[in-house]
Amino acid sequence: MTVTRRSLLRGTAAAAVGAGVLGPKALLSPAAAAESLRLAAEGTGRYVGTCLTLTSALSDPAYFAAVVKHCSVIVAENEMKYGALRPLPAPAPISTTAADLLLTLGELNGMRARGHTLVSNTAFPQWFNSVVTPENCGRLMAEHVTSAVTAFRGRVFSWDVVNEPITGDGYYENPWFNRIGPGYIDTAFRLAHEADPACQLVLNDYGFEFTSAFSLTRQATLLRILRGLVERGVPIHAVGLQGHLEAQAMREEFVPAQHRDFLRQIADLGLAIIISELDVDDIKLPTDQRQRDVLIGDCYKRYLEVCFDEPAVEGVVSWGLSDHRSWINAGDREKYRRADGTPQRPALLDGANQPKLASAAAAVALERGRPVRARVR
Ligand code: G3I
Repeated sequence: MTVTRRSLLRGTAAAAVGAGVLGPKALLSPAAAAESLRLAAEGTGRYVGTCLTLTSALSDPAYFAAVVKHCSVIVAENEMKYGALRPLPAPAPISTTAADLLLTLGELNGMRARGHTLVSNTAFPQWFNSVVTPENCGRLMAEHVTSAVTAFRGRVFSWDVVNEPITGDGYYENPWFNRIGPGYIDTAFRLAHEADPACQLVLNDYGFEFTSAFSLTRQATLLRILRGLVERGVPIHAVGLQGHLEAQAMREEFVPAQHRDFLRQIADLGLAIIISELDVDDIKLPTDQRQRDVLIGDCYKRYLEVCFDEPAVEGVVSWGLSDHRSWINAGDREKYRRADGTPQRPALLDGANQPKLASAAAAVALERGRPVRARVR
């Protein structure tokens, strides 16, 4: 028997219905997923993106072709982080070669770029710790934000200005917070806005999806910080909700009405929302691939249905489009290694860049979503 992509999709879809997880309506459009996620998103005005490394863009043509087919936006996975752009401290210029090449490959293939990330907790240059002092920390941050935003002005439509600034009910004590205080967030946004007034500026963070105490506390903290930023007139335009979903928690602790309300509260502040780093951690799911894919597809379905019902959600970025290119399956990610030794299946496409239930569920959710509200920028 010849197994075509379509018959594979039909087979997996039938398994999903049999398991009673995905309703029959979710199967209306598996062809759209096979065709292109970016097309499935067009009707409602959303974009679909993925992070991408220069190495995979250059060395894995089949993967790059899948990115071009399904995505309208790319995000440099690591090439635009502080350590990558600033191998040497100023007055040495920033080093844009890898990022520039990556953006160019995207531009040549009709893809726009989001920038990730200016001020974060990780990915510092090697020289940082021996150079930084309480006195020069603000200057180092300003040098970096201004030069990076200026270097990519007009090529990056949206920047993650501050990444992962919160913990529990307060601020994450990163090297910026410890030396500058919470005002580092306001300053970073103001500097980015001065360097590129047309760019969408984003606060990006994780861990908001569930009704666990952990997640609810983080939701409240995020909303409190956002309200403060908006009240002070800080030029913030959007929130990036990373969407690293743990599959078991998605089954037990994801309450659609609660999450809908959370998204609405962000939208009511006048901010746009980006699902900025979507994937599903299947570490607790069974080994059987078909069973696992049904459960993973169900996570994508239930999460994205809620997200795309909110007009403020203007795009979704997968943190690696195919399973073999996901950071979760990288060699140094011990924490995400499955006990049965099989690779995780976190992404929208499988390890051969082919659609699976996750992408079918995403395509249907994209097609059925409510249209994106008029963009401020
Ligand atoms: O570049 C070095 C290379 O020289 C060295 O040989 C190799 C050995 O392990 O490491 C390479 O650096 C790695 C880097 O990715 C580039 O490949 C780091 O070890 C590795 O820790 C780093 O991981 C990245 C991680 O952020 C930390 O910056 C992941 O690829 C990237 O997917 C991940 O992305 C983050 C987002 O930025 C923020 N939100 C969470 C998300 C997932 O952790």
